[in-house]
Amino acid sequence: MSARGAQIAGDVVVLDLDDGRVVHTHRLALRDSCPCPDCRHPLSGQRLFDSPAIRDVRPEAARIDDGALIVNWRDGHRSVYGSDWIEREAAAVDDHGYPPRRVALWGAELAKGLPRAEYGAVVSDPAARRAWLDDVARLGFAILKGVPTDDGTVASVAELFGHVRVTNYGRVFDVRVRVDAANLADTSLALSLHTDNPYRDPVPTVQLLHCLSSDAEGGETVLADGFRAVEQLAATSPRALAVLAEIPIRFSYRDQDAELAADVPIVTLDALGRPSALHVNNRSKGVPVGSPERVGEWYDAYFLLLDEVSSPRAKISFRLEPGDVVTFDNLRVLHGRTGFSGEGHRRLQGCYADRDALYSTLAVLDRGAAR
Ligand code: OGA
Ligand code: ZN
Ligand code: ZN
Repeated sequence: MSARGAQIAGDVVVLDLDDGRVVHTHRLALRDSCPCPDCRHPLSGQRLFDSPAIRDVRPEAARIDDGALIVNWRDGHRSVYGSDWIEREAAAVDDHGYPPRRVALWGAELAKGLPRAEYGAVVSDPAARRAWLDDVARLGFAILKGVPTDDGTVASVAELFGHVRVTNYGRVFDVRVRVDAANLADTSLALSLHTDNPYRDPVPTVQLLHCLSSDAEGGETVLADGFRAVEQLAATSPRALAVLAEIPIRFSYRDQDAELAADVPIVTLDALGRPSALHVNNRSKGVPVGSPERVGEWYDAYFLLLDEVSSPRAKISFRLEPGDVVTFDNLRVLHGRTGFSGEGHRRLQGCYADRDALYSTLAVLDRGAAR
């Protein structure tokens, strides 16, 4: 994207883009982003001045020269903003200042083509690794096939893009039937759709589940796109969505060694009203506090959301086979399982990791792909 003209209007530099769009940039944001070597450390690109130092600087002249924006400032400084900067400013206008997201919402139709990757390829081939992580970023999950079923391998899968988040459940936790189950996960009961560990602060953003053995009948994995359910609620019952985003719920967990609690709303929205997180967990959820009217409203809204995620048009289900790892965004994709028979064995191992590392690895791989 290039610009054909630039003018100063008070505190604002106005850019006329070739495609007719107009970009308004405040003098402070403009000077604060000066890329020159006096303003930015040449190697790290980090800012060399403290922003309050530019409080009073004003532009004297602005023009376009050879595709770049050139600004002369009254304090004698000169800034040159290249076409890549102009491109980003133009994009910010369309996105209301919010970076576009990779998110692609899905429902039951995704069952026709589940996002899958081969472990061997993902380990050895950066393009395959990129495709796998891109699926997790866009769809909120992906299945890796052919992962060795050795104890603890799920942690090595997390390390393909980031670091394991250790919790009081350990570095890696087991999901299998236990007679002394401290958690419903360690029984053969069904688990309704949920996000894990809403009682933590911060909540783990990525979860991996690795199937080591499964010859029990049942125990299918069920997933639903929580962001899509929120978008649907926004369209059909905006009032219900507002209630779910406003009222905090206490989630808690306790066992012999831990006592965890966090107060969070069921849905977190960003400033544009788009979902950025869901916290749904029937096992650890408290109840809303407030007037009976408000509480009643909350339950109506909560049930609407649950009806949405658990409707057949929203859910997919599949069987994790030994050697499968499902990696998912724990704040977006709700997961659950059907109950299974006490006969036979079913053993999963899981671990948590962080979204920021996943996005970072993906961005570095994108860099390689762009070359
Ligand atoms: C859990 C869980 C899924 C499964 O332990 O939180 O969601 O398939 N387990 O057992
Ligand atoms: Zn500068
Ligand atoms: Zn879970």
